[in-house]
Amino acid sequence: MDRQPLNPQVHRVGFRSGTIDELAAQHLVEAEIESERHPGSGHQPLESYVAFARSLPSQFDDHTWIAVESDGTPAGSAACWSNAAGDPRIMQGYVYVRRPWRRRGLGWRLLNAVVDEASAVGRPTLLWSTYDSIASGDAFSRRVGGRVGRVNRTSELVLAGVEWERVESWAAQGPRRAAGCRLEFWDGPLPEHVLDDAARVHALMNTQPHDDLEVGDVNIDAMQAAEVDRHLVESGRRRWTLFVRAKATMLLRLRAKRPDVLCVRTSNAFSNEAMLAINTALGFDIVEVRTEWQGRVAEMREALAR
Ligand SMILES: CC(C)(COP(=O)(O)OP(=O)(O)OC[C@H]1O[C@@H](n2cnc3c(N)ncnc32)[C@H](O)[C@@H]1OP(=O)(O)O)[C@@H](O)C(=O)NCCC(=O)NCCS
Repeated sequence: MDRQPLNPQVHRVGFRSGTIDELAAQHLVEAEIESERHPGSGHQPLESYVAFARSLPSQFDDHTWIAVESDGTPAGSAACWSNAAGDPRIMQGYVYVRRPWRRRGLGWRLLNAVVDEASAVGRPTLLWSTYDSIASGDAFSRRVGGRVGRVNRTSELVLAGVEWERVESWAAQGPRRAAGCRLEFWDGPLPEHVLDDAARVHALMNTQPHDDLEVGDVNIDAMQAAEVDRHLVESGRRRWTLFVRAKATMLLRLRAKRPDVLCVRTSNAFSNEAMLAINTALGFDIVEVRTEWQGRVAEMREALAR
């Protein structure tokens, strides 16, 4: 970009209630960060980004800022959100600055807005993520007093390279190894009569390793599970659910019904040995390392003021 960065101003904007212009600015910034994280892969179209924002489940209370030049050019964005179904101490967020505007204090100003909000609504801990492909996030997080809570690997399985005979044999062994279990498959939104089960399955996520992350559980009810479903559909996503699992069975179904799908992506903590064992056996390759950070809001405010 050949223009000289000027002096972007930070404005509070809406996300769920954002105007199209506000959401387009946030989308532009996020799409650039996404390209830095995964060069060459496409990003979410603006239309589904807007639908994602509009249908954000009501359990999330969101706050958003953009930094714009006087001519309207977006330079960065920040957001934070709390989850009424989760730990009342926690605020989650992010700060994104476009490359030409970095190392001029804009990240600091955007973080200030996030930290002030967390403080104003009485959430003492801020959580955020950084990615191994963008080293500045790590330096920035340390500088503001963040502590690493958990390190996760995102990995991909190229379906063309799967040993299907092995997967078929796992699926065939399933009924014997898990006698009394049955598999129940749903394509898209779940019907009302399984929403209580869906809420229970969401609660299973609380049992994944937390490592050093000081976070409590997230527990949604059936109505919130239905909202999450609507949110996925409205933002253009399609979900397959297999209750009483068997990853092998899901892969076989994927091969049979969606031959256009080239690869499967998943994210797990490095400490999640049980999940990683099956990922390794299947041949997943690590494509990104995501570090989750936590910081005490009061200490971060002090660091920002210095
Ligand atoms: C991390 C990020 C937000 C920093 O934005 P920025 O506007 O460049 O940050 P600032 O100029 O306010 O930097 C504040 C301090 O962070 C540290 N820092 C930021 N980038 C750094 C880098 N590349 N190398 C070393 N230190 C860095 C420095 O201590 C800096 O203070 P200094 O310039 O006085 O030395 C930006 O690089 C970015 O958007 N990265 C991708 C997304 C991301 O990882 N976000 C972080 C958490 S959600």
